[in-house]
Amino acid sequence: MRLVTNIAVGAWTLGVALTLPGAAAAADAPETPTFTKDIAPIFQDKCEACHRPDSMAPMSLMTFAEARPWARSIKARVADRQMPPWQIDRTVGIQKFKNDRSLTDEQLDTIVKWVDAGAPQGDPKDMPAAKHWPDDQGWNFAPMFGQKEPDLIIKSYDFTMPKVSQDAWDKRVTPSGITEPRWVRAIEIRPETLPGRKITHHAIAYLEQTEPGAPASTGLPAPFMEWAVGKQGEMMRPDTGKLLLPGSKFHWDIHYSQAGEEITSKVEMGIYFYPKGQEPKFRTSLSLVPAALGTMDIRPNTLSIAEGFTVLREAARIESFQPHMHLRGKAMMVEAILPSGQKQVISLVSDFNFNWMTTYVYADDAAPLLPKGTILKVTAWHDNTVAKKSNPDPNQWVGWGDRTVDEMAHAWINIVYMKDEDFKIEQDKRKATATATTLQQ
Ligand code: HEC
Repeated sequence: MRLVTNIAVGAWTLGVALTLPGAAAAADAPETPTFTKDIAPIFQDKCEACHRPDSMAPMSLMTFAEARPWARSIKARVADRQMPPWQIDRTVGIQKFKNDRSLTDEQLDTIVKWVDAGAPQGDPKDMPAAKHWPDDQGWNFAPMFGQKEPDLIIKSYDFTMPKVSQDAWDKRVTPSGITEPRWVRAIEIRPETLPGRKITHHAIAYLEQTEPGAPASTGLPAPFMEWAVGKQGEMMRPDTGKLLLPGSKFHWDIHYSQAGEEITSKVEMGIYFYPKGQEPKFRTSLSLVPAALGTMDIRPNTLSIAEGFTVLREAARIESFQPHMHLRGKAMMVEAILPSGQKQVISLVSDFNFNWMTTYVYADDAAPLLPKGTILKVTAWHDNTVAKKSNPDPNQWVGWGDRTVDEMAHAWINIVYMKDEDFKIEQDKRKATATATTLQQ
């Protein structure tokens, strides 16, 4: 038991330790940054995935001429961490993710200083070579598995976004068509065409399947894969997979935004299987972990809070976290209450934004290992006041429901349950890497 607590704490201590170099480095930002020397490398790294021609952000930030007119707006969006979209609170919880697209404190500081200095261009000779962005429509993972294409390609339906339109959601259903259980090792989603990238804001494929002997479900299919601009795909951790069963269906939730021209597109999801007969040791499945489910009572012009408690009946590794709320969602926190009584914040999203449905995927050496009997506590805050920009009407009472004007309050958490002996092995491995990392510093 003592070991269990130590390891869990070890993982968190590691997370905390890692935020320190970033904070210290903030002081190291160059005094008078220039675009060519200091800013362009940051934009290539953290912005161009979305801010380049033929992608979905409103403007390209690849050259000085393109970026300069946006300097003020860039400072505003970057300084309050609205851009790049990444809502994880940096002061608490785990800070090591596989898909972190946020700016380091030093990068943020450099951008702010650059704008404050009048956003100078600098010496054109300092400009780094343009970053190569794939303009073809290839599949990212296929070459890694020595394949031309994924093993299974699931398509949504043609959707036409008019030249001028409010945002729209496509929520149709595609059957998987598989006839025997298969273990999934990687998934990727892409808009079917290049113009399609301009209108596809994000796409989530929810999986509906009946588990043999499973209790009646909540009626909500669980997310199978989430995609937003800039994301490559999702590769399972070693010896870990998702199980796809015959009769399964994918419910799409594709968010389209207008692009100033009429575009028809759909999305394609590529699925890679483990070879037949090769069964991974661990199964990852997405769980709906509620702060509230079925009922909510959010009064007009108030802030409200909801809390839910879920006991882990087996030891577990927490793979990822995605807060799910609607237009009035303000913040969500996931905590672990260990059998020892010790409480630890796993993650806090303190500035929830309904437009960015991000799944935060913990790094291999940071994914929390939690002993059997741990309680996951999910807290959700809703802001039904004028302070919440996306709130359509703070004078309305709001209850739990499906429409975006209703509310929800749950976390989607990818969980790998494991036997106690496997848990011990995973803990020992973690302890070994934690020691190695500490020694290197
Ligand atoms: C994951 C995609 C993505 C990434 C990465 C991203 N942006 Fe954005 N950005 C968007 C989208 C989409 C919008 C338009 C919607 C909105 O305003 O939120 C936007 C809007 C903006 C705006 C506001 C433009 C306006 O109309 O005033 C600024 C400024 C901005 N981004 C700067 C940046 C900078 C600087 C970076 C990198 C440090 C960055 N963004 C990274 C997708 C992204």
